[in-house]
Amino acid sequence: MCGIVGYIGYREVYPILINGLKRLEYRGYDSAGIAILNSESHIYKCKGKVSDLEKHVSGNPIHGNIGIGHTRWATHGEPNDTNAHPHQSTGGKFILIHNGIIENYVELKGRLKNLGFSFKSDTDSEVLANLIEYVYLNGNVSAEMAVRLALSQVEGAYGVVIMCTDEPDKLIAARKGSPLVIGVGNDEYFLASDATPIVEYTKSVIYLSDQNVAIITRTELVLKTLKNIPLTPTIQQLDLDIGEIDKGGYEHFMLKEIYEQPRSIMDTFRGRITTQGTELHLGGLYQVIPRLVEAKRIIIIGCGTSWHAGLVGEYLFEDLARISVEVEYASEFRYRHPILDKDDVVIAISQSGETADTLAAVRLAKDAGALVLGICNVVGSSIPRETDGGVYTHAGPEIGVASTKAFTAQVTVLAMMAILVGRRRNILDDKQYQHYIDELKEIPGKIEKILEHAGEIQKLAELFKYVNNFLYLGRGYLFPVALEGALKLKEISYIHAEGYPAAEMKHGPIALIDLNMPVVVLAIKDHSYDKIVSNIQEVKARKANIIAVVNEGDTTIKQLANYTVEIPEADAIFSPLLAVVPLQLMSYYIAVMRGCNVDQPRNLAKSVTVE
Ligand code: F6R
Repeated sequence: MCGIVGYIGYREVYPILINGLKRLEYRGYDSAGIAILNSESHIYKCKGKVSDLEKHVSGNPIHGNIGIGHTRWATHGEPNDTNAHPHQSTGGKFILIHNGIIENYVELKGRLKNLGFSFKSDTDSEVLANLIEYVYLNGNVSAEMAVRLALSQVEGAYGVVIMCTDEPDKLIAARKGSPLVIGVGNDEYFLASDATPIVEYTKSVIYLSDQNVAIITRTELVLKTLKNIPLTPTIQQLDLDIGEIDKGGYEHFMLKEIYEQPRSIMDTFRGRITTQGTELHLGGLYQVIPRLVEAKRIIIIGCGTSWHAGLVGEYLFEDLARISVEVEYASEFRYRHPILDKDDVVIAISQSGETADTLAAVRLAKDAGALVLGICNVVGSSIPRETDGGVYTHAGPEIGVASTKAFTAQVTVLAMMAILVGRRRNILDDKQYQHYIDELKEIPGKIEKILEHAGEIQKLAELFKYVNNFLYLGRGYLFPVALEGALKLKEISYIHAEGYPAAEMKHGPIALIDLNMPVVVLAIKDHSYDKIVSNIQEVKARKANIIAVVNEGDTTIKQLANYTVEIPEADAIFSPLLAVVPLQLMSYYIAVMRGCNVDQPRNLAKSVTVE
C-alpha cells in the first residue's frame, strides 16, 4: 500500500528519495513526504502526489546523504499534510516512515499521552515514533534497542524505517507483515517496500523477514531478530531490469501492460514447455506434485482480479483434472472456520505476493495441514516464501494499479497446472495433452491480432464513455471474464458495472436493462453458444445496446448485437486469455476519455497490505 524508500551512503539523497517515491507512487498516492538528516533534521511532507511534494520542497534544496521518504495510502487519519509521513517523536529524536497498521495504537496513544507525549496527527505511525522515544529516554538504551523494545509492544503489521537524531549515521529498519527490501551497494544501502526504486542502483538485495531488524550504517548492515538474536543476511540477485519499470513510450503503464501480454504470457510458459514442445515442466511444483495429483479437493484463494483468475482455475481443474475445486475470497476464508485437512491443496493467487488477507489465509491453511501453493508475480515476496511450492507467473513488474497482464499470466499458470495434473491423473490422454500445449503456444499470436484492432475498441469507447451503468455477461469460462471486465471498468473509470453469469440475468438484473444500459456479452463458439445467443435475444428485446465479443467470422450474433468485437477462435479453456483483452482496452479508453487517472485510480492501491 504505502511506499517506503530510504538511503544511506555517499550520494545526494534528495533525488534518490524523490525518484524512488515516483517509482512507488503506484502503491499509494494520497500524500508524500521525505526526511533528510545533515547537521539537523529536515522534514517536508504534504497532501497530494510526489509532484506536489517536489513543488513544496523547491526553493529549499536539501543536501545530505541519509534520508527516508514515503508515499501514503491512508488507513488511519484522512489524507492531509499532518498525517503524511515521515512522523517525528515529540522530543524530535526519532523520525520514521511506516507501512502497515498498529492495531493497539489507541491504547498505546493513551498511555503516551499520560506520560506527556503530544500528537500532531491522527496516525498510528506517530504513536510508534513516540513509543520508541519513550523507551529510548526512559530506558537509557541505544536507538536500536529502543526500536526493538518498542516494536515488541506493538500489535499489528509494520514495515518501518527509522532515523535517530542522536545517531545520525544510521538507518534502522524492521518488518512484520509489510515488505521491505534492502539494496546493497558499495558503502551505500537502499531501502524500499519493493525493488522498483532500487534496481537502477544495484541488483543485490536482502529481503527482510518478519520480526527482523536491520541496523544499517554506510559501511555495515547488521541483521538480527526483534529479540536480539544475530542473523546472517542472505544477498539475492534481482531479476529485474530498469526498462521493465518505465512506460516505454506508452501514455500509461496500464496500456503498456495490456500490450505486453503476448510477451508476458510467453514469459510465463517459457522454459516450462520442453524445446520439443511436448512436455510441461513446472519446477516449483516438483516436490509437491504427488500430493497435488492425489488431492481430494483444491481450494483457490485470492482477492480482486486474482480471485477472478481463481474462478477460471475452478473450470480448468474440474474439466481437465476432475478435481473438485472451491474458490474463496481470502478475506472471507480466513475469518471463517474452514474445514481443511492434509488431502486438501490450497492455491493462493496474488500478483504482489503481499496481499494481507491472502497471506493470512495461507498461514491458516498451512497450520491446518493442507498443502499450500502460490501463484505469484513478485519474486521473493511473502506468499511464495511461505508456501510449500508454487509457480511464479514471470509477467514482469505490473505498475498500473488495475491488474491486466497479471490476470492473463495467472490464468496461463492455472491452465498449465491443470493440464499437467490432468495428464498425471490420466484424465487427459497424450493426444489431448499435446493438443492443449500446442494451443497454449498459439495464444500470444492471437492476442497480437486482437491488439491490432484496438482502434475499433477505441471507437466503441467513444460511444459509451458517458453512460453510468454497464452489464457484463458470460457463461462458463467467460463468466469470470465478465466479472473481470466489470471490475476493470469500475476501478479506473468510476462507472458502475456488474458482471453476471448470462443465464442468471433472468433472476434479477434483467430488471435493470433498458436503452441506457449497455450490455457486454461474451459469446464465443463453445458448447453454450446457442444458450448465449438466446440470452442476447432476451437483452435485445429490452432494447439495450449490445456489445458482443465473438469469434472471427461469427455471422449469427453480428445480426443481433449492435456492435461486435472479434477475437480469434481458441479452445474454450484458453478463451479467458483472449476475451479479456478487448474488455481491458475498452475500460482503458473509456477512463482516458473521461479524464480519469488511469494508472492511479482514486482510493486504490496496488498492493493491499492492510486487512
Ligand atoms: C484489480 C486489482 C486488485 C488486485 C487485488 C489482489 O485490478 O488489481 O483487485 O487483484 O488487490 O492483489 P494481489 O493479486 O496482489 O494479491
